[in-house]
Amino acid sequence: MTKKLSAMDRAEPFKIKVVEFIKKTTRDYREKKIKEVGYNVFFLTSDDIFIDLLTDSGVGAMSDNQWAGIMVGDETYAGSRNFYHLKEAVRDIMGFPYTVPTHQGRGAENVLDRVLIREGDAVPGNKHFDTTKAHIEDKKGTAVDVTIDEVYEPETLHPFKGNLDLKKLEKVIQKYGKERIPYILITITCNSGGGQPVSMENIRQVHEMAREYGIPLFYDAARFAENAWFIKQREKGYEDRPIREIVGEMMSYADGLTMSAKKDAIVNIGGFIAMRDKELYQKCAAMGVLFEGFPTYGGLAGRDLEAIARGLYEGIRLDYLTSRISQTHYLGNGLKDIGIPIINPIGGHAVYVDGKKFLPHIPQTQFPSWTLSVELYLESGVRGVEIGTILEGRDPKTGKERLPRLDMMRLTIPRRVYTNNHMDVVVEAMEAIKARKDDIVGLRFDYEPPVLRHFLCTLERVNE
Ligand code: F0G
Repeated sequence: MTKKLSAMDRAEPFKIKVVEFIKKTTRDYREKKIKEVGYNVFFLTSDDIFIDLLTDSGVGAMSDNQWAGIMVGDETYAGSRNFYHLKEAVRDIMGFPYTVPTHQGRGAENVLDRVLIREGDAVPGNKHFDTTKAHIEDKKGTAVDVTIDEVYEPETLHPFKGNLDLKKLEKVIQKYGKERIPYILITITCNSGGGQPVSMENIRQVHEMAREYGIPLFYDAARFAENAWFIKQREKGYEDRPIREIVGEMMSYADGLTMSAKKDAIVNIGGFIAMRDKELYQKCAAMGVLFEGFPTYGGLAGRDLEAIARGLYEGIRLDYLTSRISQTHYLGNGLKDIGIPIINPIGGHAVYVDGKKFLPHIPQTQFPSWTLSVELYLESGVRGVEIGTILEGRDPKTGKERLPRLDMMRLTIPRRVYTNNHMDVVVEAMEAIKARKDDIVGLRFDYEPPVLRHFLCTLERVNE
């Protein structure tokens, strides 16, 4: 599905100037540590982790150029020159004249939703990210998932599994009425669907439907550059178009976006809202003052704004994107080759292991993918994360476990941080786990917090 790439294509377009040592530990040590933290990998300290694949957010390696930008941070309360650099980068790359900086992606979601959402509104989209959904619900709106059905079929090879189903979308619009839909949201790439891209054709069709009904279209653009790379690789007519042009076309269909710069702008902290409409900008800027800070810093230092401005340009480089995504595919293909069930096709920023299928003897109520993340840590000091039953939580009304259709362990790859040798460690560890998988026992709660239980719960083995 993805075109074959040469070694030159896959090679990192950078060399390494600074390194940070990481610790290899023994199995006995890890056994002790994971027990101490109640089998919850969120409680591990990073010193006890060899390879951290918990997230790709805020954990990328900045370039020498970004670090140089940190040194020219203008720490002025109002009017920092770095803000104007960011605003210009957003205008130049994405085409939006107005930018409101925020401390990270969820800050942008909060400000935009406070301005746009009223009680009873609906925001249709393709599998909204957790914080995105939570912010919509916080404003008493509903996030309605209209992703194509293929996203729920791990084996189905579809080049753009993040696509929105236009029939589902139209039904939602008719059900709620356009006055109750403040905006349609396309998440590019679709993280909760497995890092799956959305095609330009689909974006265009959603744009047309949105225009027909007079509903604004927004993007959750955290991984917009990776989405553009997939369009170039997989969509007819885009093979020879530069990433910048593809990004420009994608953005031309939207009224605005929220951005977690911690992903495709390769910074450790930061985000923004960008938009075309002056009035919306004025409302967001005013709301932003309350929650994020004055609109020329938005909860960030001037140096952070500069790093984002520079990172946006690096994030859309074709050579970088090719090496970055081919590393994700290197890991995914390595796992496939040894018979580990993963979500297909492999996405941009992460490989998702189908834990339910890999450990079929562990009932979903004993959390197979969470158990697998514990085993992976025990085996090798690698930290992955469950995107499954524990994350999903109980039905707030009935108190029953919700048992999502997909119960997965996500192996998320930070940008410019690890080498393919590190990916081999993961594959080797999964092979060792596979050899002893029938002896693995599931987990039950020792402490289950009422909300966001994955962050704070502790567990024990069911046979303890
Ligand atoms: N939207 C998407 C698609 C995301 O993946 C994230 C964060 C956010 C919004 C929120 O941005 O963290 O800057 O506030 N995803 C991280 C992850 C946390 O691990 O997938 P944020």
